[in-house]
Amino acid sequence: MMLFLLRSWFFSATDTGVGKTTVTAACARILRTKGINVGIMKPYASGVARQSGYKSEDVAILADAAGVSDDEDLVNPYFFPIAASPYTAAAKLGISIDTDSVLAKFERLQASYDILLVEGIGGVLTPITKDYFVADLIKNLGLDVILVCSSRIGTINHTLLSCTTCAKYGIRVRGLVINEVEKGYDLSELQSDLLNLSGIDTVCIIPHMKNPSMFETSQIIKDSKLISILS
Ligand SMILES: Nc1ncnc2c1ncn2[C@@H]1O[C@H](COP(=O)(O)OP(=O)(O)OP(=O)(O)O)[C@@H](O)[C@H]1O
Ligand SMILES: [Mg+2]
Repeated sequence: MMLFLLRSWFFSATDTGVGKTTVTAACARILRTKGINVGIMKPYASGVARQSGYKSEDVAILADAAGVSDDEDLVNPYFFPIAASPYTAAAKLGISIDTDSVLAKFERLQASYDILLVEGIGGVLTPITKDYFVADLIKNLGLDVILVCSSRIGTINHTLLSCTTCAKYGIRVRGLVINEVEKGYDLSELQSDLLNLSGIDTVCIIPHMKNPSMFETSQIIKDSKLISILS
């Protein structure tokens, strides 16, 4: 039935702070309200640790949206209390990263859900180790990508760089989400320019929100092409 068509997805972005968590969490919430058994994962996270529960704020938001409470070791195998790439943070902290263990944890989690929504860290060339980038992780997980793009001036360069990198790795970018984190390009002009330049469709446009909330984001996303692709 419908379940045969469901699959897991990787949410990446043109940069850090562009809206990966905002979009992924809203998608998880919407899929859950549709009765889909959705799980979440953020394999690598960094920043200030929360005092209780999941150390990563992103993981806490994603888990709350999906209504799940899996072990931190599964949903977020690596957390670095330094706002930096895993490569940089691990080097500073003297930690070695076992990238294969993350793949095994993904498989374990995926077995419990119809769909896993996986949030990346930074963008597709954020380094995890010296010779292993987020793009390697995506390739190893075998997932297609939803790429969240800002609308600020400069986003065309960042979006095309991200798409070119994914193409080089053989990763499919299934759709772009234009998120107006801050004012920049006209959103519909940007959509048509990105389609002409990259050949990739924008599957959702999120205008700037004065007070971003799960409710408002979900209202915008729920009837979009993004949700029909995911579900
Ligand atoms: N459309 C929007 N309008 C206004 N603010 C937004 C919008 N989308 C996201 N934000 C805000 O921008 C900030 C960054 O968003 P978010 O945390 O989702 O980005 P991210 O890509 O997950 O960041 P990170 O790289 O740290 O994981 C958050 O404070 C969020 O509430
Ligand atoms: Mg995030």
